[in-house]
Amino acid sequence: EDERRTSLPRPLNTTEPHANSRGYDLRDPLTMGSLFHARDNWRTHQWNFGAGVDISNPARPDEVVGSVAFADAAQTQAAIGRAAPWAEDAATRAATLTRAADGLEMAAPELLALLAREAGKTAEDAIAELREAADFLRYYATFASDADQPLGTVAAIAPWNFPLAIFVGEVAGPLAAGNAVIAKPAETTPLIAMRATQILHEAGVPDTALQCMPGEGTTVGAALTSDPRIDGVVFTGSTATAMAIHQNVARHLAPEAPLVAETGGINAMIVDSTALPEQAVRDVLASSFQSAGQRCSALRVLFVQSDIYDPFVRLLKDAMAELRMGDPWNLSTDVGPVIDDRARQGLQAYIAQHDPLYQLDIPDEGLFVPPTLIEVERYEDVTREVFGPVLHVTSFDAEDIPSIITAVNARDYSLTFGLHTRIDGRVEETKRLLRVGNIYINRNQIGAVVGVQPFGGSALSGTGPKAGGPGYVERFTRQAVRRDAV
Ligand code: SER
Repeated sequence: EDERRTSLPRPLNTTEPHANSRGYDLRDPLTMGSLFHARDNWRTHQWNFGAGVDISNPARPDEVVGSVAFADAAQTQAAIGRAAPWAEDAATRAATLTRAADGLEMAAPELLALLAREAGKTAEDAIAELREAADFLRYYATFASDADQPLGTVAAIAPWNFPLAIFVGEVAGPLAAGNAVIAKPAETTPLIAMRATQILHEAGVPDTALQCMPGEGTTVGAALTSDPRIDGVVFTGSTATAMAIHQNVARHLAPEAPLVAETGGINAMIVDSTALPEQAVRDVLASSFQSAGQRCSALRVLFVQSDIYDPFVRLLKDAMAELRMGDPWNLSTDVGPVIDDRARQGLQAYIAQHDPLYQLDIPDEGLFVPPTLIEVERYEDVTREVFGPVLHVTSFDAEDIPSIITAVNARDYSLTFGLHTRIDGRVEETKRLLRVGNIYINRNQIGAVVGVQPFGGSALSGTGPKAGGPGYVERFTRQAVRRDAV
């Protein structure tokens, strides 16, 4: 056992080459320079966008990262009145969005610091997120077309778990199509959204085409989604909120007008007895615990074939013990805090209802939830998406695979699925039968790459079109609406 443990690769430093990125890499001296610059120069900086709500650092809750004035319903309605579609031609829009991507990269030290301090992102996660935000801008820019007519004004409601990448992606898609966008960042992460909006404006996006309205879902979100002057809504967050938005939108939007929603999942992975154990363990760790499990793509239920179950779970526990939890300022931190105290308490209450197989120690200070392994009998025992570093594990026999696939399909959540196997026929069979958005074979199941791995599911996991895919920008045009209506 000891021998295995020392031969295990360091768990989460698995930055892989990205086909369409400019190649931020933790081992790259320029990236390291950005990180050290971020750490040294932004440690005590505060970002102030008006007085009102103080935003604190989840790793150090006493530390105020900045403040922001939250908008109310009347201000939101005024913003809708001010909004004007982006009338410049497609080439200008594309060049402007591409310039904004460069602007994000130029601001890397500051944005990495904000991601760490406002959202608790580790260095690896923050770099990947900045890269994804820039990729969304450059990729969607290529779909700007003079032949398409924009919808009008689109509301973009963004989540806290990718407060830069998904915020920018949701804004960039409708902007590339020439729409006006009113963006509402999550309550917990408005500062980075405000900075990203400034960078987009500096690149040349008109301030009537993009307005950022930080605030509560119940005020700004409700005012946006219930206003008849809004022509489409793009949302990422929980399935329950998506359903509430759907109802709001149904009262005034034409039936064919777009609600583009990307929501949750109860994602599974199968590791069979032909898998390479060390590789599978590494990919399980990344899928379950990277970003402290706060990804809609994250692995929630792991199926391990019964004849390797005991040694595999032992290896997994040993590898979990190697994870470093702590302040994201520390460059070797693998797992940072969860987003806020409500999330922490909810996760703690969930864990307290179970008898974990394994649990890591947590730092004394900060909003940390320990990476936790919970054994379950069946997939159905996991009754909801547990949005944090909690992994459920269960065993299966080879003949159970069809019933696992049936159980996953029956769930109606359909986001990601992982399969570790060396049996080609099993890969083909699983791909054929499984109804999920993204299937990952012999790798981790997070971190879809813009333009290479379009991301998203259907049914309770979302509406499509997939983010970072070829159908996204067109969805915010009249052409798509008319075609879908016939
Ligand atoms: N796109 C992210 C991922 O693939 C989740 O939102 O992990």
